[in-house]
Parts: sequence; structure tokens; C-alpha cells
Amino acid sequence: MTLKGAWVLLLLGSLWASVAARTGPSHDKVVVCYISTWAIYRPEQGAYGIDNFDPSLCTHVVYAFAGLDITQAAIKSLDPWQDLKEEYGKGGYEKLTGLKRSHPHLKVSLAIGGWNEGSANYSKLVANDLLRGQFVKQVSSFVRKYNFDGLDLDWEYPTQRQGKPADRENFVLLTKELREEFDEHGLLLTSAIGASKKVIDEAYDVRQISRYLDFLHIMCYDYHGSWDHRVGYNSPLSAPADDPLSVKFSIDYLLKLGAPPSKLVLGLPFYGRTFKTVGEGNVNDASDGVGFRGPYTREDGFLGYNEICRTLSNRTSGWTQQWDPSTSQMLAKSERNVFTQDIHVVTYDSSRSIANKVLYAMSKRLAGVMVWSVDTDDFLGNCDLDEDTYADFTKVKTAPRRLNQNYPLLRTINEATGLALEELAPPEPQPDDSDNEIPHGSVADRKNAGASMVSLSLGATTVFLLLHRLAQ
Ligand SMILES: *[C@@H]1O[C@H](CO)[C@@H](O)[C@H](O)[C@H]1NC(C)=O
Ligand SMILES: *[C@@H]1O[C@H](CO)[C@@H](O)[C@H](O)[C@H]1NC(C)=O
Repeated sequence: MTLKGAWVLLLLGSLWASVAARTGPSHDKVVVCYISTWAIYRPEQGAYGIDNFDPSLCTHVVYAFAGLDITQAAIKSLDPWQDLKEEYGKGGYEKLTGLKRSHPHLKVSLAIGGWNEGSANYSKLVANDLLRGQFVKQVSSFVRKYNFDGLDLDWEYPTQRQGKPADRENFVLLTKELREEFDEHGLLLTSAIGASKKVIDEAYDVRQISRYLDFLHIMCYDYHGSWDHRVGYNSPLSAPADDPLSVKFSIDYLLKLGAPPSKLVLGLPFYGRTFKTVGEGNVNDASDGVGFRGPYTREDGFLGYNEICRTLSNRTSGWTQQWDPSTSQMLAKSERNVFTQDIHVVTYDSSRSIANKVLYAMSKRLAGVMVWSVDTDDFLGNCDLDEDTYADFTKVKTAPRRLNQNYPLLRTINEATGLALEELAPPEPQPDDSDNEIPHGSVADRKNAGASMVSLSLGATTVFLLLHRLAQ
């Protein structure tokens, strides 16, 4: 090979390396993105497929859900046509794991369980040494077969919903045995964890499962909903001292029980909880037990952020919204329906809620945040952007400009993670000499400036060496 050829290869190589290094978020916290893969069946602009996923906005992505075949003690596809390639299936598993080729930063896990799978079969599985052993071996080869990086346990929940008291100990055994098997293959083991105090107390030996899991994804939502028969906030950041139904309570409680912050991942809802009330549509107003449904997600009591922001961006919809500073929650309501006398209410996380929760997660030095789920973000970019996202950040004067209007909540997470570290940095000492010009701009600006300086000087060195070579 000629020297010129070698240099061209070297140039291309370093170009590729710098591109590869930049396929994910620019901070070093985790952003775990769940995809509820049945979102493909939603109508019109609500339909979400793997093609809609943007791997540059997440560090980890979780394919939800696979199921348990208790008769075989085996993980199984719940929708073979979507998940697999056999019989002209759409091959969703390999489509998602295939994104690692263009986005080498991305870790892809398969989740087993979810609400609809219930608890009884999982309870049976973990109670029996033989079944557990079979399952551990089978699940390990299953996730590797489709090129997943790991497994996410979404048993909702040990000891609950027809589970048994022994589930608590047996769940520890399952995580321990999976850990031993997964270490042989460098696989990730994580679990979705219920956030209510009752579930935490009864379902989890927090200290033990923390030893074996890489991350605990805390489901910090569904604190209130139509089941309360009154209007409440889906995911309040704070609550009065004696109320355990808040994000801060759940996280502080798990930390107190011995979960290491470096393994805790704070879950954020990209959806709201809905209510129908004949009251004024305020918090605590009596409501029916069902809530209302949205045009895309079509589930009583639940509304995706994309459905909420679409209604609020519609100037003639008659909806109004109000921010609650004590919980970092948004409440939006319709005008009163003249026929039913109902007001529709939804409580949800706006960009500002998300930013404040990221700030909280960073202040607790958690591993990062998780989202349920990316398919109800405004992934098409149809809505107006929130303008008050960083209103509670004292050091952010203007929100960073965005190149894309889509995924407003996911983009807020990645932005806020960088801004939060700046927000939490100890104050810089004030210069005593006012004549001394010190560099202004944010930490992020300086970091970017530093990075471009490095690449500039690397580029300059390469060009210099190249010219030098050619001249000889
Ligand atoms: C548990 O397993 C049995 C036997 O395979 C199955 O019929 C049942 O549907 C499973 N339960 C749930 C909630 O999936
Ligand atoms: C906006 O809201 C009005 C009133 O509910 C409705 O008739 C109209 O179809 C909505 N427009 C869009 C674009 O959804």
C-alpha cells in the first residue's frame, strides 16, 4: 500500500471513531427508554414502530414485553408476527438489536412480564428450584439468539396480585441465579420495581436484589388515578411529609433500605392519568372511577403525552392548563360538557416536570432516568414546545436551541441532565478584581469549546503530518 493510501485510511479511521463515539447522549448518565411494542397497532398518528425510535436519545432501550410459558419454564414471544422473522414475521427483536450497528453506544434489553401477565405464573416459577434453573438457561440463550444485551424483569409484582409471601425470597434467588448465568456472557440484568411503599415492603428484599441487578428501574408513576375516585396527580415529585405517594418518598425510601444510588434509575411517565368530574376540575374533586380515553392509546384513565399536547396545542379546544409548583405536576382540563355536565381532567408531566425530576435524580446522584414510554412522547413533533421548561433552574437563562421539534420530553431529559450538573455545581468563587475579564458562558459551552478545540487541533496535526509526508 502507498503511504498516501495509508494516510487516507488513517483519516477515515479517525473520522469513523469520532462519529462512532457520538452516536448517543453527550452526558454519562443512563437514559433507559421503554418501547411498548403494541403501540404499532394504534391508529393514525399514534402508531409507533421501531422505525420511529431515535437511538441517539437513549443509552438503553427495552423491548416490552415478552411473556412466560410456565409449562416450559421459558420466555416466549407474546406477538410472534411482530417480534420474530419466522413465517414472514416483521422481526421486531432483531430490528431493534440491529440498531446497535449504526449506534454502538446503545444497549438493548428484552423485558419479560408487564401488568397483563399477572403474577401467579411467576410465583410458580420462582418457587421451584428445577423450573428456575431451566428458565435461567433458556432465557440466557433466548436473549443471545436475538442479539439482546440483557433481560429486564417486569414481574408486577412479587407477593402481589395472586403472588405468595415466599416470592420475596424466591425473587432474590431468581436474580442471583440469573446473575451467575449472565456473568458468563456479559449480559445486563435489570428489573422494573414498583414505587408504592406497600409493594416495596412486601415484594422486595432491596439490599439483596441490589447485589444482583445492574439497575433498578423505579416505576415512579400511577401514584393517583381514576381508581381513587377523586382527582389526583399521576406522579408528584413531592408530597406532604406523612404522604408516601410521591417520587421523592419512593426514592428516599429505597435508598434508606440500602439500594445504592448508582443502581437506581428514576422512572418518568410520558403519559397522564385522566378523570371525569362534575366538580370544578381541581385536585381532590370527586370523580368517576373510570376516567376517559384518548384517540390513540384507547385505554380508560390513560392519556399519552402526545395526545395531551395535541389537545393543548389546539387553540379552539377550550382546554386550559395549570402548573402546580408543590408537586411539579401539570393539570389540564376541558370546558364543561353541556350535555353530561362533566369536566375532563388530566394530570401529567410537562417538560418542566421532567426537567425538575432530572434535577432531583442528579442531586441524589442516581444512575439516571427511565421513561415509560417513548411511544407516547410527541415523537412526530406535532405540538407547540413548552416555554417554561427550565423555569425552576436558577442558572439557566435561556433554554438551549433545538434542531428538532420532535421528542420534546426525551430531548428535555438529555438537555436537563447536562444542565442539572451545572445547576448543582458549587458556586464559583467571585473574582475580587472586577477588571479581570473571566470567560463567560455555561459549562456545556466550555466543554463543547474544549471538544472542538481538541478535534480542531487533531485535524490540524493530521493535515500537517499529511502535508509533511507528501512533501518528502
Ligand atoms: C399462566 O399459565 C397458564 C398455563 O400456561 C396460562 O393458561 C395462563 O394464561 C397464564 N396466566 C397469565 C396471566 O398469563
Ligand atoms: C380542535 O378542537 C376543536 C374543538 O374541540 C375540534 O373541532 C377540532 O377538530 C380540533 N382541531 C384539530 C386539528 O384537532
